[in-house]
Amino acid sequence: MDIKRGFANAVGNTPLIRLNSFSDETGCEILGKAEFLNPGGSVKDRAALYIVEDAEEKGLLKPGGTVVEGTAGNTGIGLAHICNAKGYKCLIIIPETQSQEKIEMLRTLGAEVRTVPAVPYKDPNNYVKLSGRIAAEMENAIWANQFENLANRQAHYETTAAEIWSQTDGAIDGWVAATGTGGTYAGVSMFLKAKNPTIRCVVADPMGSGLYSYVKTGDIKIEGSSITEGIGNSRITGNMEGAPIDDAIQIDDREAVRVIYQLMEKDGLFMGGSVGINVGAAVALAKQMGAGHTIVTVLCDGGGRYQSKLFNRDWLASKGLSPD
Ligand SMILES: Cc1ncc(COP(=O)(O)O)c(C=O)c1O
Repeated sequence: MDIKRGFANAVGNTPLIRLNSFSDETGCEILGKAEFLNPGGSVKDRAALYIVEDAEEKGLLKPGGTVVEGTAGNTGIGLAHICNAKGYKCLIIIPETQSQEKIEMLRTLGAEVRTVPAVPYKDPNNYVKLSGRIAAEMENAIWANQFENLANRQAHYETTAAEIWSQTDGAIDGWVAATGTGGTYAGVSMFLKAKNPTIRCVVADPMGSGLYSYVKTGDIKIEGSSITEGIGNSRITGNMEGAPIDDAIQIDDREAVRVIYQLMEKDGLFMGGSVGINVGAAVALAKQMGAGHTIVTVLCDGGGRYQSKLFNRDWLASKGLSPD
């Protein structure tokens, strides 16, 4: 029998999918870890589960307790599912710029959701800082603190990376992923470099994020903006500290949208915006490395969470973008 013992046990062990149209175009094997198939629908289920179980093991989260988090959506959705499955309450602080689909989903799942203005990290009312203060003031509550809590990248070190290694039999030449908290990128790159230091580990970055310039010049410089959600950063988070980085690739929204529609129309994969950055960067890395290499990236979440934006021609046009 192969039975998953509840939601928590069903997280992870996702397929690694060959992205046929992009692989054929580049002569490389471009492989996407199908994180949209997690039971909460995104890569963040892994981090949410490890954060909650780490707090349980440390005795910080007690029966009837509340998990508080500032999140762009997917971590909150993962936490809300896990809280339901484990009997905790969930309080989510989310910037009001995030997609309505994600905000409504959180409310449907029973989380208390507070939307707040999107302000930079240096502002004390930034959603992340606000969530920490709110958690500190509550009885029997923990702050998930996904940006600094290293249980996040540990989830990817122990599960995502180990799965990629065994699914490819260790035959992998490149790993590329955009970062929000950095948990996925850091956990996987630390594992892969420990196994084989010649694997090229590359940060994918949208416009409006400072990591590309940080990798290239050592300074965080921000230019432009992006419609993608959940990725990009203006600082080095605790989860990114010490992560091996060989290079960075910047992908603009035009290219990300082109990639998203090609994934849908040619590969049958209906994906969220960060996947456009990831796969766009995997294609760029494939071109840099040349034919015959195997490059792995992440299919973070599905397109249904962005129906009103990424898959709405009028909305795209309002941003100067088009699927054509
Ligand atoms: C859609 C999406 N893609 C990518 C990421 C980045 O993952 P990580 O936080 O592990 O860097 C996130 C994180 O919230 C996300 O929501």
